[in-house]
Amino acid sequence: MYLCLLLASLWGHSRIVELPAGMLNSIGLANVGVASFISDKLPFLRELNTAIIVNIAGSSVDEFVAVIRRLDDQKGIDAYELNFSCPNVKEGGLEFSQDAQVTARVTAIIRKATQKPLITKLTPNVTRIRDIARAAAENGADAVSLINTLVGLSVNIDTRRPHLYTGTGGYSGPAIKPVALAKILEVARNVDIPIIGIGGIASVQDTLEFIITGACAVQVGTANFIDPGTGPRIAAGLQQYCQTNNISRLADLVGTLQLS
Ligand SMILES: Cc1cc2nc3c(=O)[nH]c(=O)nc-3n(C[C@H](O)[C@H](O)[C@H](O)COP(=O)(O)O)c2cc1C
Repeated sequence: MYLCLLLASLWGHSRIVELPAGMLNSIGLANVGVASFISDKLPFLRELNTAIIVNIAGSSVDEFVAVIRRLDDQKGIDAYELNFSCPNVKEGGLEFSQDAQVTARVTAIIRKATQKPLITKLTPNVTRIRDIARAAAENGADAVSLINTLVGLSVNIDTRRPHLYTGTGGYSGPAIKPVALAKILEVARNVDIPIIGIGGIASVQDTLEFIITGACAVQVGTANFIDPGTGPRIAAGLQQYCQTNNISRLADLVGTLQLS
C-alpha cells in the first residue's frame, strides 16, 4: 500500500480528482487497524453523545469475523456496518455484494459472530440490487446501507493516462444522488428492512428526497470535504422543516413517494 502511494506521488498521479459534479478517489481502505482503533480512537469516540457504528472492511469472511471478535466486547460500540464493496480476495476478487449468494453466505456467518445490529453496505455496481439486499435481509442483516461509490474513470488528455494512479476509482458526490435514489427505491419496494441512504447528500433537501424515497436514516460522505459541519447543519434543518410543515415524526415521511 505505502509503496503504491509513494510511486503514485512520484508519477504525479492523484488519489483524489475533483470533477464538475463529484469526486473520484482511490483512497482505498487505509486505516489504523483494529488494535489501534481500540486503543487510540475508541476512547475519544465514547465521550461523544451519540451512537457509534463501526464500518468494517475485509478481504475474506474470516477477516470480517476476526475484526468483530476483537471489537465485540469493547464498550460503546452500538452496531457494525459491513463494507461489502471490498473485493472478496479468497473467492475470485468480485466485491462481496456483487453476488447474492456470497452476500447471503457471508452475512449468515458474520451474524453468528455478534448479537449487535448488522448493517450490510451495498455496492451500486450491480444489475439487480434488490437481489443482494434480499440476500442480506434473509441472512441476518438488520438494515442495509446504500450506495457505496460507483466505478468511474477520469483521463488526463496530455499524458493520456488516468488521473488516478489506480486507473478507475470510486465516484461520489452530487452526481451520484439520482443513482442512489433509484437504487433505494428498488430496495424499498422489494425488501422489508430499514434502509440507510447514502450518495451525494449535502443538504436538507437531499436528505428529504432520500427519506421520502424510503431511507430511515442517511449518511454524509463527500460533502464533508467541503463542509465538515454538513451533518449537524442537516440535522438542525430537518428539525426546522418538521416544525414549519407540522410534521410530528420524521419517520412519517419514510417511503411516502407517490409514483402515479
Ligand atoms: C474518500 C472516501 C473514503 C471512503 N471510505 C469508505 C470506507 O472506508 N468504507 C465504506 O464503506 N465506504 C467508504 N466510502 C464510501 C462512502 O461512505 C459513500 O458510500 C460514498 O462516498 C457515497 O456517498 P457520498 O456521495 O456522500 O460520498 C468512502 C468514500 C470516500 C469519498
